[in-house]
Amino acid sequence: MTTEKIILRSLLGHEVERPPFWFMRQAGRFLPEYRKIRASVRGFLDLCYNSELAEEVTLQPVQRFDTDAAILFADILLVPHALGQDLAFLEGEGPVLDPIRNISGLDALRPEGLLEKLSPIFSTVERLARSLAPEKALIGFAGAPWTVATYMVEGRASRDYPNIKNWAYGDPAGFGKLVSLLEDATAQYLIFQANAGADALQLFDTWAGVLPADMQERWVVQPTKRIVDSVRKVHPNIPIIGFPKGIGPGLIRYANITGVSAVGLDTSMDPAWAAKYIQPICGIQGNLDPGLLSAGGDTMLASANEIIDDLKSGPHIFNLGHGIWPTTDPNHLADLVAMIRNYRYSRLD
Ligand code: CP3
Repeated sequence: MTTEKIILRSLLGHEVERPPFWFMRQAGRFLPEYRKIRASVRGFLDLCYNSELAEEVTLQPVQRFDTDAAILFADILLVPHALGQDLAFLEGEGPVLDPIRNISGLDALRPEGLLEKLSPIFSTVERLARSLAPEKALIGFAGAPWTVATYMVEGRASRDYPNIKNWAYGDPAGFGKLVSLLEDATAQYLIFQANAGADALQLFDTWAGVLPADMQERWVVQPTKRIVDSVRKVHPNIPIIGFPKGIGPGLIRYANITGVSAVGLDTSMDPAWAAKYIQPICGIQGNLDPGLLSAGGDTMLASANEIIDDLKSGPHIFNLGHGIWPTTDPNHLADLVAMIRNYRYSRLD
């Protein structure tokens, strides 16, 4: 496969002259141009379902920072919303859902309406596939079942995850029905994003790390593997990036079993460790602390340089260890981008 897209070349294991880069939450409140569009609509969901505006905010960071990829502007909670669960994003509070606490709550979900309700998202992807320059990749995404289920069951962001743990540990067969439903919905959603023109896909499993190792196997690794297998049946070559935040050395098993093309490395992980134990299996994406980006300056640049040096002997997509904070000065990101763009791998092979 020949492609001008440096991210895809890297993910396919081809030689690249510098690390490709994009940033989690690159479209968002830290950009004044995003805040302007956001202020023109009533709620965050109205922005997600408006293909024209969603296209515009997706392109904003690509235009400002010349990132190598655009990430579709949407949210992981659109899947539960499209399944029929009530969802609102409240100012200063984040997402609020009408919680599902047990198996009888599943009756309220309507999987048959999923793709129809998500059709504006596929229109956004189609528009972006047309408008992006040929060297830019379009990354589609979804939340992984465990992380999406935490919001569906807790009804909001949580600290201890009491309701989902009581259900998953107390009635694994019943909870497994919710996870299985989410596996199917997520695979369909990702397949349709790829049909509409997404070049690569990312699965966000932000809360994977709140589970003990054996439960990570059941609720993180196996569901991810089943989603990857389903997507690859339809799109055999599409790169898939998995981001199971907080699982530490569990990343080795995740990389081996799920079949993802690359794993996102969270802030806490040592890139030199990942070079040794993960890069022989798959690519790495990450992992500058968003706090270092917020602080900016030479400390940020030195840390970023070290990450690139540590990961230069295998596929590496530069990114953060988690999303950009809304309070970040966009000039810090411009400084970081200038450094990465000028970096040259010295390997001769
Ligand atoms: O630029 C991008 O990365 C693309 C768009 C994107 C958003 N959310 C837009 C968004 C992506 C990839 C996500 C993923 C997402 N959403 C995750 C996984 C990644 C992560 O950050 O851990 C999660 C857990 C969610 C759920 C979610 N969405 C929460 C908890 C919140 C509230 C907290 C917050 O940051 O406000 C959101 C809202 C949200 N999603 C915003 C944006 C730009 C802010 C809302 C606004 O602009 O009004």
